[in-house]
Order: sequence, then structure tokens, then C-alpha cells
Amino acid sequence: MKIALGSDHAGYDLKQMLKSVLDELKIEYDDLGTHDTISCDYSDYAIMVSEKVASGEYDRGILICGTGIGMCIASNKVKGVRAALVENIYSARLTREHNNTNVLCIGGRVVGPEIAKEIVKIWLGTEFIGGKHERRVGKITAYENKI
Ligand code: RB5
Repeated sequence: MKIALGSDHAGYDLKQMLKSVLDELKIEYDDLGTHDTISCDYSDYAIMVSEKVASGEYDRGILICGTGIGMCIASNKVKGVRAALVENIYSARLTREHNNTNVLCIGGRVVGPEIAKEIVKIWLGTEFIGGKHERRVGKITAYENKI
């Protein structure tokens, strides 16, 4: 599995911390920026990372901004992406099992680093369970393909 990481200035510190989890799990990743804490636009990184996930260049993406909300809004505009804003461990598991999300958004100013690390571990380690959820996600994809 290859992960694309992205953040704005407000998510930069948490992104740096989360790299240790990916290293620990021996998961390959590229940090597509931002590379410092100078103010920048979350939308640039959300769209860049999400397009690379949608194209198949990366299997999944992780996006961090201050709240995670802007990243999630922008990421979900990219066709083929299902992004979730996750703030707890339960949602980290369910958004993989039920929603088959391929982009994880976290708020660096909202979620503490240890919870964020657990969220990432669970999100990366949980499979989509399909069944009725396949049908539900399929309806989203069908709509997306129509517009
Ligand atoms: C930056 O100040 C902040 O607006 C951004 O990181 C994010 O929280 C937007 O949703």
C-alpha cells in the first residue's frame, strides 16, 4: 500500500508525527506538502493528494488541516474519492468497513497526536466489508458518474 500525505500549515506538525506510525507499520508514503508552517491553502493539498488517489498513483491519502473539515470538503469534490473526517477510533474503523473511504482527514488542532496515531493505524488496517454497504457506496458512485 502506498499513501499520499498532505497538510496545510495547521496540519503540518501532526503530519510529521504521523510519519512515525507509517514507518512503524512499514507503509510506503510520500509527503506531498506542505513542508513548513508558513500559511498556505488546504484546498491545494487536498486536491493534489485526492487526484493522485483517484488516478491510482496512490492507494490512499491522508490529509490534515486545522479542523480536517476543509480538507474533507475539497477531497470529496474529486471524482472517485471518498474522504472522511475522523475524530475517534470507532469512526476510523466504521468508515473503512462501511464507507470504503480512500482518504482520511484529521484535524490537527482538534485531535491529539496519540488518538490520531490510533486512528491512522485502524483506518489503514481495516477492510471494507461489502455486502449491503457495497450497494450503498455503489449508489454514491452511480450518482457521481452521472453528474
Ligand atoms: C487554517 O487556518 C484553517 O482554516 C484550515 O487549516 C482548516 O481548518 C480548514 O478547514
